Parts: sequence; structure tokens; C-alpha cells
Amino acid sequence: MNILNIIEKKRDKKELSKDEIEFFIKEYTAGNIPDYQASALIMAIYLNGMNSRETSDLTMAMANSGETLDLSDISDIIIDKHSTGGVGDKITIILMPIIAALGIPVAKMSGRGLGFTGGTADKLESIPGYKVDLSIEEFKQNVKDIGISLITSSLNLAPADKKIYALRDTISCVSSIPLIASSIMSKKIAAGANKILIDLTCGSGAFMKNILSAIILAKTMVKIGDNLNKEVRCVLTNMDEPVGKAVGNQLEIIEAVNALKGNMPKDIEEITYALAEQILLMAGKATTQEEANLLIKETISSGKAFEKFKELVKKQGGDVSYIEDLSKFKNAKYIVPVPAKRSGTVVKIKTELIGKTSSFIGAGRINKTDKIDYEAGIIINKKINDYAKKDEPIAYIYTNQENKIEEAIKQIQDSFVLLNIKRIKRRTVIQTIK
Ligand code: URA
Repeated sequence: MNILNIIEKKRDKKELSKDEIEFFIKEYTAGNIPDYQASALIMAIYLNGMNSRETSDLTMAMANSGETLDLSDISDIIIDKHSTGGVGDKITIILMPIIAALGIPVAKMSGRGLGFTGGTADKLESIPGYKVDLSIEEFKQNVKDIGISLITSSLNLAPADKKIYALRDTISCVSSIPLIASSIMSKKIAAGANKILIDLTCGSGAFMKNILSAIILAKTMVKIGDNLNKEVRCVLTNMDEPVGKAVGNQLEIIEAVNALKGNMPKDIEEITYALAEQILLMAGKATTQEEANLLIKETISSGKAFEKFKELVKKQGGDVSYIEDLSKFKNAKYIVPVPAKRSGTVVKIKTELIGKTSSFIGAGRINKTDKIDYEAGIIINKKINDYAKKDEPIAYIYTNQENKIEEAIKQIQDSFVLLNIKRIKRRTVIQTIK
């Protein structure tokens, strides 16, 4: 077998065999195929696509390209949740304690933020003392002891995906359905999941900008699941504004804790319930959506979800007194209102720009090695369909860098589109595909 024949086949719109796909992944990961040949093949896949069998083979080849996690000693049912990303997305931090409090084991690895999106691991680290870098043994033991652990991955999971993703970024080949689907699924499978729930975000703050392509991606991932004997469900959610009101690590933890105590902004409530319901159904803890909904409600209103989160924080070295008394979190030095430039209804928020502004004032990283300011972020005061009078605050900036304030105000004002209309039609949870 050689790479030239494989490139030629895909260039000529032919189907690749399982062996050919495995050969490419193995040899490229090992450094035996140069980037220019890999680029040619990736571009051919981008242009000519892959059928469902090829996409499933690519997924498994990437999932098996490095270390894999075996969680079968914890439970037969290993559920993982993945979000395709967004701004202010703290849903994992709210959802997972609810799920664990309902007796479903949660062993979840999350990433750090880069660019305009935040990462769950950074958000958790804004709780003083919370350790995200546990060993795999500690991680598993915590799940056995208290039913939940949230960490960042120390394993070399799906290295082929890391390499190919980085390459795709440099050759304008990110937006390909088989490549995105196999990339997401390979990481979840390598992390030991057999039931996978994807929060597939779409809109101005997401990777998928329109609903139609999100539906195609969702169907592709469900089909990969069918082929590989894993149950996959995708919930399409709107990311045309930040999730909830808080953007930035510590601000999001505060919002998540309030949500776990039952004080959820409407969009957080809708997304959390929609995802939790699907997890309960997949785990066999409920047989109908209504039954699942009641269980979730009870877990939150009884305080069990909040208690589970406190248990998690304590177990991972965090100072629980901050969670019990949120006023202990030190505010950023400057809290600055952003005035509306005109009166009107908010019809659009350029969500990606909000994410970039939050990074710019200290909450995120431009480069992997940048240090994060946990106190920095943005509170959105007007969401889509809210009315703002001229000069009324549409948002508040939290920063420790005075020199960034003027530019941040301008960027946030540029992010908001206000018009003289009553309301626009939108749904937070768009559709579930399974
Ligand atoms: N997220 C991923 O993990 N991979 C992609 O290719 C795109 C989004």
C-alpha cells in the first residue's frame, strides 16, 4: 500500500477501504507521511466527501491512534457529553452534577479555552484550589467514590485527530462534515464513551453557522454511532447569543452555582433540561421525556444537584466556602457599564465578537501559553428580544486592565444590533436528532 495510490483514489472520487484509511492514519501519526501528501488527501476528502462506512472507519482509526481510556470497571453505561462550542457555555458545569446526583456516573474530561471560546477546565480552575489535572487513577477513584469527576485530559487521546485538525486549519479544510464528525466522535470514543450526547451549537457564536449544515452533521454522527454500536444523540441549540448572561471564568462559575440552586436564566434552563432529559433516556433512568423532566426538577429543587457539585469541588481540592458564599470571589478591579448606542430591541448579538472581547480583556487565551485572568469577563445585560433605551447598559465589562476598557466598550457596542421592531422568532433548543 502506498499513499500516492490512496490520494489518487480519493482524487478520482473512489471509495477508500478500511485498510487504506488505517494505513494513512497510522503512518501520518507516526510521521512517515509528510504534511504535503496528507494535505492532498485531506483536500480530496474535503472536495469529494466520504460515505458513512469510510467516515466510521476514519473515526475508529483516529480513536485508536493513541491512548484510550477504559471505564468499563465503573459502569456498563458510559455517557459523555460534548459541546461543539460557544461563548458563555457553562452547561457542563450545571448538567453533570445534576446527572451524577441522579445516580449516573460522570467521568468527564474537558478542554481549556482558546481563541473566542472558553474551556470548562479553566472555568473550574477559577474556584480556588480546584485541581483539574488529576491522574487517571484518581479520576476513576473519584467517580467510584462520589459518582463524578471533571478533569482535563492528561492522556494522549486521538493524536491523529490533533495532527489532522491542525493541518486542516492551515489548508482551509475545517468545514467538512465527514472530517468534523470523525474528529468529534474519535475523541469521545477514545475517552471510553458508549453513549454520546452532542450539544450541537449553531449560530453566530458557533462553529456551524446555519441549521441545515448542523442537521447534516448531526445525522452523520448518529450514523457513525449506528455503525460502531454506540448510541449517539444530538441536541441542536442556538448559539446566536452567549449562553446565559456571564462570559468569563469566575463569572460563569457564579452563574453555574446559582443555576444549580435553581436560579437559571431561561436559555440555560432550556438547554440544561433538554440535554439532561436525553441523558436520562439514554441511561434508562426514565422512559419518557416528561418523567425525565420531573426527575431533573426534583434533583435541583431538593438541593441534591447543588450538594453534588459541592462534593465534587471538595473532592478535587477546591475551597467549598466560595461555592457556599459566592461573595467570597473577588471582583475585577474595574466594572464598567457599556451604554446602548441607540434605543431598540436587541435583534442580533455578534457572539464571536463578544467571546473575542472577553479574551481581549483577560478572560481567555490568544496563544496556548497565555495566562488567564479568572476575574475578567462580561455580563450581558440585554439579551435577544430585550428592549434597551439609549445609554442603558447592554453589558458590563469586568477587567483588571484599565487600558483595554475603551476598546472593549467599542467592540461590545459593535456586537449589538438594536432595531425598532417588537421581537424576532427564535428557539433556544432547535431539535433533537437520534
Ligand atoms: N470540533 C472538533 O473537535 N473537531 C472539528 O473538526 C470541529 C470541531
